[in-house]
Amino acid sequence: MKVRKAIIPAAGLGTRFLPATKAVPKEMIPLLDKPAIQYIVEEAVASGIEEILIITGRGKEAIENHFDISYELEDTLEKKEQKELLQIIQPLSHMANIYFVRQRMPKGLGHAVGCAKDFVGDEPFAVLLGDDLFHCSEKPCIKQLIEQYEKHEASVFALLNVAREHVDKYGVISGHKVDEGLYNIDDLVEKPSIAEAPSNLAVMGRYVFTPKIFEMIEMTPPEKGGEIQLTDAMKKLTAFEKMYGYIFNGKRYDTGYLLGYLEAVVDFALRREDIKDDFFALLKEKL
Ligand code: UTP
Repeated sequence: MKVRKAIIPAAGLGTRFLPATKAVPKEMIPLLDKPAIQYIVEEAVASGIEEILIITGRGKEAIENHFDISYELEDTLEKKEQKELLQIIQPLSHMANIYFVRQRMPKGLGHAVGCAKDFVGDEPFAVLLGDDLFHCSEKPCIKQLIEQYEKHEASVFALLNVAREHVDKYGVISGHKVDEGLYNIDDLVEKPSIAEAPSNLAVMGRYVFTPKIFEMIEMTPPEKGGEIQLTDAMKKLTAFEKMYGYIFNGKRYDTGYLLGYLEAVVDFALRREDIKDDFFALLKEKL
């Protein structure tokens, strides 16, 4: 079955980016002149996704406004004949069919994905997390996963080979290689100790799931802090269905913390035709 729908969970509190995220949703923090969530929506659209559900929460109205028509702004730009600016903002409200649902309490990523059950129905679907931005020159990361899903008709998520000293920050897999870059998942461990991690292969924020994941989320109890972890539900799914991890081709940026964010800003600026030469000269001068 074709993967037509995607979910973007964006209801988290973004505490690692305070105070910026006190009144501004983390997903609206810009990388260059575009809010982070726009890159995510563009990746989904470029991968053939037709319908997107963004999971929001209190204080996230700016995300809805960003993908809506801004009548006053468009009217003003039209009167001033600022066609270039109009061309930047007008497509935003037509990029895809974008819907919103509120997660009333931030009860974890698993719970956030569970909020999409009615929207998804009985279809496979993609999940894209806003903190993880990818630069994949050939094919968007989620497209690479969709292709693996279509080949194997089983849930699949992005994997990255991380340095051993960083495994304790991620969900880590134990599995066996079945094809180039493709691992059949036996087990998943969330933030293992460096000594106990079953591999160096860590789960990144792109997934394609069969709808069976919703049953697993419903069966997953919250942890001590009250959050339902997506990794726990994925672990359960391995007992019922095959699940794969795929080492994507491309570079991933973790924009959820300051240094990762800065690396993304620098790399994105160095790739952007209109500013890259001036920016490079500026960096050289600073260094
Ligand atoms: P994170 O834990 O990385 O995001 O969740 P966060 O909670 O916003 O950030 P910090 O750790 O406090 O800085 C991963 C993704 O899951 C979403 C977040 O918006 C983020 O995209 N999320 C998390 C939800 O939608 N709901 C939740 O209850 C938790």
